Amino acid sequence: MTEIRPTAAPAHARHGSSIGQPLTRRDGVLKVTGAARYAADNHPAGMLHAVLAVSSIARGRVTALDVDAAKAHPGVIEVMTPGNRPPLAMDPDEKSNPFMFRIDVLQNDRVRYANQPIAVVIAETLEAATEGVALLSPTYETLPARVGLDAGESFVPPAVGVGNPAQVQRGEVGAALAGSPSRVEATYETPSQYHNAMEPHAIVAAWDGDALSIDTPSQGMAMAQGRIAGLFGIPPEKIHIRSPFLGGGFGSKGLISGPQVLGILAARLVGRPVKLVLRREQMYGPVGHRAPTRQTLRIGVDGEGRMTALAHHAKTTSSSFDDFFEPAADASHTLYASPAIATSHDVVRVDTGTPLFMRAPGEATGSIALESAIDEAAWASGMDPLAFRLKNYAEVEPISGKPFSSKALRECYAEGAARFGWSGRPVAPRQMRDEAGFLVGWGMGTATFPALMFQAEARAVLRRDGTAVVETGAHDMGQGAWTALAQIAADGLGLDLDRVEFRAGSSDLPDAGIAGGSAHTATAGMAIHGAGADVIARLTDLATGDERSPLFGAGNAGVLARNGRLVRRDDGSRSESYTDILARAGLAEIEGRGRSAADPAAQSAYAMHAHGAVFAEVKVDPDLGQVRVTRLVGAFAAGRVINPRLVRSQYYGGMIWGASFALHEEAVMDRRSGRILNADLAEYHVPVNADVPSIDVVMIDEFDPHVNALGIKGVGEIGITGTGGAVANAVWHATGARVRRFPIRLHDLL
Ligand code: MOS
Repeated sequence: MTEIRPTAAPAHARHGSSIGQPLTRRDGVLKVTGAARYAADNHPAGMLHAVLAVSSIARGRVTALDVDAAKAHPGVIEVMTPGNRPPLAMDPDEKSNPFMFRIDVLQNDRVRYANQPIAVVIAETLEAATEGVALLSPTYETLPARVGLDAGESFVPPAVGVGNPAQVQRGEVGAALAGSPSRVEATYETPSQYHNAMEPHAIVAAWDGDALSIDTPSQGMAMAQGRIAGLFGIPPEKIHIRSPFLGGGFGSKGLISGPQVLGILAARLVGRPVKLVLRREQMYGPVGHRAPTRQTLRIGVDGEGRMTALAHHAKTTSSSFDDFFEPAADASHTLYASPAIATSHDVVRVDTGTPLFMRAPGEATGSIALESAIDEAAWASGMDPLAFRLKNYAEVEPISGKPFSSKALRECYAEGAARFGWSGRPVAPRQMRDEAGFLVGWGMGTATFPALMFQAEARAVLRRDGTAVVETGAHDMGQGAWTALAQIAADGLGLDLDRVEFRAGSSDLPDAGIAGGSAHTATAGMAIHGAGADVIARLTDLATGDERSPLFGAGNAGVLARNGRLVRRDDGSRSESYTDILARAGLAEIEGRGRSAADPAAQSAYAMHAHGAVFAEVKVDPDLGQVRVTRLVGAFAAGRVINPRLVRSQYYGGMIWGASFALHEEAVMDRRSGRILNADLAEYHVPVNADVPSIDVVMIDEFDPHVNALGIKGVGEIGITGTGGAVANAVWHATGARVRRFPIRLHDLL
């Protein structure tokens, strides 16, 4: 077990490889100088501005819009309504796969949620378009909004989110609970959350005949291309998407949204390029959110602190017209070695936009409930929460019985606890105060997220001058993909990073799959590495088959690629530069291709997850109930670390969001109107610097030969899991108050 410090490469990084180097983001300077061009920074010649008019009711229909008033406003060019919207080649409510979300693009006058687009005003300026929207003065026929977890009858969905069955059982939970000497049953509620990426959804769309060029932030350009192609009835190749930088995505930019399609429709209607940017409050509806949950956990424990049963039921909401929902109970599949486990979901339809992936969908929401319940079970058993977790450590994945491909969670617990100073913790709550009289509490939670792989392709071209270009349509949401993937590209080619040009962020490059599921580095990285390996294999064939080469006869497996040279494995003094090999062969360049996909054999043999342990300290004002997180320590084992600086930053971001989950974030809905009352960054609370404590991240070195050849597990989402529970448990430990409704508020503690 070693900590990867920012100055050192991991132990398994090969000599001379850029993998493992703590490089700064290659786009950092571009971003801080304003030179990075985001979607909305593009202004093609003749571009017009489109502004959405959105519904102020949650359910009903639009009865009138004063289009004439809007069109009479100086600068307004056109108003797009269901009456004049250009036709689509398919019904936007048609759905042939789970990744095809139903969208609202003015197909009729119906309103299905507040902030649903009801018209688009297109004008010469943003100001004129905004004024035009104000002049539309919509009237409605309003039906009562169905709001919240008790809005009506719930149903058991056929599948969880986009995959697992909604109900899973192993062993007999009921009997095991009945026979357990100690039982904990508790119900937790989590709120509705909205993504609030710094960059709202935006699009600049330009048609040239039936060819479409768009600038829009996307976490999955090829999928977006396919969706738009289907909607407009044009071949995907006719659509060029540029998405070089995203100001955050968090899942909300994983699928093309209604407003983005409206931008394309507006450009078609007026025959000029159009820019459409969502206002902050318009993000609260048509582009996804995390739905609220009510989760009931039942845990049975024997006389020695061993879990006998774990039941996790989650109720959540989905929209009235689509199926996505938050698979929160799945969080109980992986971590604790209960012989009986049952997880289940039910869903109630409400008048909101359809929920969507939000950083660790299911895991984040389920984790805060599960880790709270585990804390309650430890206390009921008179045990330290870490000792209880170790007692119930899962040696194989509990739900499937499969061995883990790797699991250094024990090391995470040990190293995190040591860093935090956990061993001095009193088991009972309300035992610690600081010098100012604030109540001090320490809590912990376990973090986990699946190690996933999707499909990707990449191309590498090595030139005779010893430089290379590597291309894949990868997405950088701000996480540093452009840097980490370039490091992998250089490693695959055996070149220094400064010899490699890495191109991403455009749909005319090979498909890099989706930047989601914490799988982008593994997925795109494996394709890139494969493209480099393909180049090296061709180069090696040229050299080892040519008697003029010092490598002649070494065989393909007999050489290494390093620093722009092929080197004999058995004799490091015999080598040849890439440049010399290409020159002798009379070639200007060599092209290689790479492809990646999950290995089905490994997937069926092993459970693949990243793990971590998070420890939190809070201080609570005993008079005012104000909670401050004062320390967070996270120890994570997530396979091979490509760039420790970027990985650390991903853990920071996840952990800060976890603290926010426990203490800050909540979209408040007006129960009468179905409107969100705090659809802005002033009142939808996200942590600011003053809310973020000192955070200590420890990266546990972990080698995993099964997840993929590079051993990458992914780090984008795991940080949010574990942390919410750790903070909530620390609040209990400080105060003795077990708050089961999140976020925890001042008055819960008074
Ligand atoms: Mo993520 S919620 O898979 O972008």
